[in-house]
Amino acid sequence: MTKAKFITLEGIDGAGKSTHIDFIKQYFEKNQLDYFVTREPGGTELGERLRQILLNENMHPTTETLLMFAARAEHLEKVIIPNLSQGINVLCDRFSDATIAYQSGGKGVNIDFINALKKYTHGGLSPDLTILFDLPTNVSLERLKKTRTLDKFEQEAQVFHDRVRDSYLRLAKSEPSRFKVIDSTQSIISIQDIIEEFMGKVFK
Ligand code: TMP
Repeated sequence: MTKAKFITLEGIDGAGKSTHIDFIKQYFEKNQLDYFVTREPGGTELGERLRQILLNENMHPTTETLLMFAARAEHLEKVIIPNLSQGINVLCDRFSDATIAYQSGGKGVNIDFINALKKYTHGGLSPDLTILFDLPTNVSLERLKKTRTLDKFEQEAQVFHDRVRDSYLRLAKSEPSRFKVIDSTQSIISIQDIIEEFMGKVFK
């Protein structure tokens, strides 16, 4: 059995990652690869309940960080690890990089605290590929305004989104072999070509 891959999608709100999930699913199907698609916060019954609280209620950033990891611990034990162990590739819409970008980069939570939670929650497990959809925040916020009712994070000021974006870009720079950054100002077709190339490298 070939080792299943753990692939995560990241980016600021409105960077367009959701648009490309269906394309990635089609990639798995076209290449006859078993896959499971999930998201954070969420992915389990309890995790989805925590998501409702996290996206709608105001709380201290430390509380927010702990709840993100509570949902993640459940998700890892019940969904991510069991799928990977059975040889099923997992595509996860956000993971721990989001906690670093949003709670540490955006809200100033101590990075050592987050790294300790990461260590105890998922130890050595790290994504094989992280696709970071990157976009200037004035463009992403314009896009968001046109879509739907905004959640708690999406309603944050542009400076918050700037800090989140910077934090993601710093992470990508620090781990260039795992992160692939996509300029989300490009056309959907160009982005799909790039995604296909990245996926091809992971599943070669
Ligand atoms: P989504 O809209 O991409 O599904 O993500 C939900 C929101 O949750 C998004 O604004 C980012 C935020 N979030 C964090 O702040 N920290 C985290 O660890 C995760 C996974 C998401």
